[in-house]
Amino acid sequence: MTVNMACENRDVQSFRTRILPAKITNLGQFENPGTLDNWVVPEDLQVKGPLQEAATHLKNTSIPVAFPTETVYGLGADATRSDAVKGIYKAKGRPSDNPLIMHFCDLSMLRNFLVPATETRDVSKADDLIPEIYKPLIKKFWPGPLTILLNNPQPSKLAPEVTAGLSTFGARMPSAPLALSLIKLSGVPLAAPSANASTKPSPTAAEHVFHDLNGRIEVILDGGPCQVGVESTVVDGLCDPPVVLRPGGISIDEIRECAGWESAIKGYKDKSEVGSSAPRAPGMKYKHYSPKAKVVLFEASSGDPKPQISSALFERSANGEQVNGNMEKTRAPFIGIVRTKKWVPFAGLDRRGNGEEDAAIKITQQVQKDESYVVTEADLVDTRPVLLNGTTSAKDSDGEHNKPSNPTIAHIIEIHLGSETKHIARGLFSALRDLDKNGVDEIFVEGIEGHGDIAAAVMNRLRKAATEIKT
Ligand code: TXA
Ligand code: MG
Repeated sequence: MTVNMACENRDVQSFRTRILPAKITNLGQFENPGTLDNWVVPEDLQVKGPLQEAATHLKNTSIPVAFPTETVYGLGADATRSDAVKGIYKAKGRPSDNPLIMHFCDLSMLRNFLVPATETRDVSKADDLIPEIYKPLIKKFWPGPLTILLNNPQPSKLAPEVTAGLSTFGARMPSAPLALSLIKLSGVPLAAPSANASTKPSPTAAEHVFHDLNGRIEVILDGGPCQVGVESTVVDGLCDPPVVLRPGGISIDEIRECAGWESAIKGYKDKSEVGSSAPRAPGMKYKHYSPKAKVVLFEASSGDPKPQISSALFERSANGEQVNGNMEKTRAPFIGIVRTKKWVPFAGLDRRGNGEEDAAIKITQQVQKDESYVVTEADLVDTRPVLLNGTTSAKDSDGEHNKPSNPTIAHIIEIHLGSETKHIARGLFSALRDLDKNGVDEIFVEGIEGHGDIAAAVMNRLRKAATEIKT
């Protein structure tokens, strides 16, 4: 461990952060997939290799370990030790008033945390410890992206810091075998929020974790990109009717198909909170999932993007720095566009990236700056907005061009996430991060429709990331 006391004004030690490649094929299996009672790790993984190293680190230190789940990368710590759990908050820079999710490898491990710490009998097979209401969900969705709330027995075996003072705790059994084997080798449930720095988009690849937490943790297990791409759905079945608290990888429609969950209600907003395109007042929302660049979200209901994007570009361009009193810009705005289901390339503004329809860019790859292109006034000829004085921007009131010929309005870089909701969810956070890395000033995102499916999770995250929403 390298300790650097003078570390970027942060009151934390600076560690040498290592990414441990862990794309291992045989990671383990349930002894009986029908009961989910016991996750079994192959013997060789128990004695050596990256998983064993990470598990030892989790057992012996208070520095969290980043690991992949099927949703996003988590920042894990021994959920039974206060000092280890505090290490998560320290590394993330996250306020400790937000409860964490406990990750279990099998139901035997979970049952042991449903009885008080004073209980001595073996409860690992006691089926009735899990509330009936959750059984159909567990049967259908575990292991998988679903978190359930359970009563925290007193005295609890969990460190008090994980629940932030609540009487319940969140429990999930991830489906990523790497995560299950890490938990099993650690011998304890892992408390794990997403492994991003507080307020940033959740990480869906080891590089994202490294970018945010380099120097703040020692070990990142690299199991490749996450399959789901948005966090787990959080449900509370301890109240009546049951509530879906956070939309995520399992849709509310699927949950309502389960016995006892038919009338589950939404504990989250599934519409944008603003009814106009007015920017939200800063500080009005809890910033979350946000890249550095400002995010402008175009709700699916906002219609044809062409005039809106065009006028947004003109607006940005006109707000550029004034040189010698003229509207000459020192730098045209650099805009990222994230397309999903309906927008055609370059939002229909008759431009192409490098001559190809989808110049864009595979979602898991870093976007290269040379794939950006320039938009000039001439490109926007059909969509040029009428300015307040009634003239178009390219001409003065006499109808004469009053600007240098064809000035650059914006530099654009575009990412197409595909038109399947699953792919959009998988690539979303990565796209926001890629665009940030390229230094864009703003990101225009095409929203999608859908209230009951995973689109709800995508839109929930986007609305939280956005500083402006076009409805
Ligand atoms: O997919 C996921 O859930 C990821 C991966 C790493 O597993 N984890 C994750 O954790 O997203 P985190 O800490 O970023 O989000 C935890 C969510 C928060 O919305 C929190 O408010 C809610 O779960 N939560 C946890 N325990 C709760 C409780 N006892 N009552 C109400 N909400 C709770
Ligand atoms: Mg998070």
